[in-house]
Amino acid sequence: MEERILTQSFTQEDASEYSLRPRWLSEYIGQQKIKEELKIYIEAAKMRKEPLDHVLLYGPPGLGKTTLATVISNEMGVGIKITSGPAIEKSGDLAAILTNLQENDILFIDEIHRLNRSVEEILYPAMEDFELDIVIGKGPSARSIRLSLPRFTLIGATTRAALMTSPLRDRFGVINRLDYYSVEELKEIIKRSANILNIGIDEDAALEIAKRSRGTPRIANRLLKRVRDFAQVRGNGYIDFKTSKEALDVLGVDEMGLEYIDRKILVSIIEKFGGGPVGIDAIAASIGEDGDTIEDVYEPYLLQIGFLNRTPRGRVVTKLAYDYLKYPYIEQGRIEGV
Ligand SMILES: Nc1ncnc2c1ncn2[C@@H]1O[C@H](COP(=O)(O)OP(=O)(O)OP(=O)(O)O)[C@@H](O)[C@H]1O
Ligand SMILES: [Mg+2]
Repeated sequence: MEERILTQSFTQEDASEYSLRPRWLSEYIGQQKIKEELKIYIEAAKMRKEPLDHVLLYGPPGLGKTTLATVISNEMGVGIKITSGPAIEKSGDLAAILTNLQENDILFIDEIHRLNRSVEEILYPAMEDFELDIVIGKGPSARSIRLSLPRFTLIGATTRAALMTSPLRDRFGVINRLDYYSVEELKEIIKRSANILNIGIDEDAALEIAKRSRGTPRIANRLLKRVRDFAQVRGNGYIDFKTSKEALDVLGVDEMGLEYIDRKILVSIIEKFGGGPVGIDAIAASIGEDGDTIEDVYEPYLLQIGFLNRTPRGRVVTKLAYDYLKYPYIEQGRIEGV
C-alpha cells in the first residue's frame, strides 16, 4: 500500500487514536449544530427511557463519525456494538448481531452503503418494528418466523450517502452531515491531543499544523505526531513555529494541506485536459489512481477549498488553483460549461 501522510483513512499508526478520541460531547470539538441537535435528542430519549432514534452520519473519512457514535453511546449510557457493511456477509450474520443486543443498545454499522441487499432487507423491519423475519428451511417446507428484538438504535456511517438505497436512508430519523473543520477548531484539536500525548507546542505552531490538515482531525493528529518526531530528532522535542514549518515542508504537505497526489490531479487536468471539463475516469487513467479513491478521498477537499468545480460535463480546475500552482490562467475556451 502506498504511504501517504495525508491519507484520511485509518492506518496502523492511528491505533493510538483511541486515547485521543473524545468520549463525551463536551470534549468533541466543532460540529456545533450536530452536537446541539444530538444533545436534545439524547436528553429526550433518556427522559422517556427509550432508545435514541436511528442516526445516520455521513461525510468524508476522518471527520469523527466513529468517534461521535461512541460519544453518543457514552452520553446515552448504553452499550455499543461496532461492525461494518462489508463485514456482514449473510443475513444470518446480521440476525446474530441483532438478537445479541441488549435493550437500548447502539449498533454501529460503518460503511453502511456497502451492506448487501439481502442483509439490508433484514434491517428494514428491525429498524422499524424491532422485529426480525427469518426463513427456516428450504423449498416447499420453508417457513418464515418473526422474532421480536430488543429496542435498539442503529447508527450508520458512510462516506457515500448517495450510494445508499433510499428505503434504507429513509428509515433514519436523524441524518447528519459532518463538515470539514475550521482551522480554529483543528487548532483546538491539536492542542488537546498535544496535551494528552505530553507534547509541548506553541500556539502558532499548532495553527500552522491546523492549516495544513485539510479540515480533518485524523490528519491533524497524524501531522502532530510526525512533527513531534521531527522535533525530537532535530531538537528537544518541543514544537515551535519554525520546527513545525520545517517538518511540514519535509513531509511534503504544502500551505493549503495539499500533497503530491492532490497536486498531480490538478496539474494533470491543467496540462492534459486544458483545465477541464473532464470526467473522473479520464483523470484516474491519466494519473494511475483509482476513480473511486479520487472521488471519495481527494476530490471533496479540492472542491471544498474551491480548487475544483463539478460541472455536468466534468471537473474543472478553477482560477484559484491555477494561481496557487502558478500556471497562467487563460480565460477563453473555458467560459462555456463552467
Ligand atoms: N470532534 C473531534 N474533536 C476531537 N478529535 C476528533 C474529533 N473528531 C475526530 N477526532 C479525532 O480524529 C480521529 C478520527 O476520527 P474517526 O475515527 O471518528 O473518524 P471517522 O469519520 O469515523 O473516519 P472513517 O470514515 O475513516 O471511519 C479520532 O480518533 C479522534 O482522535
Ligand atoms: Mg470511522
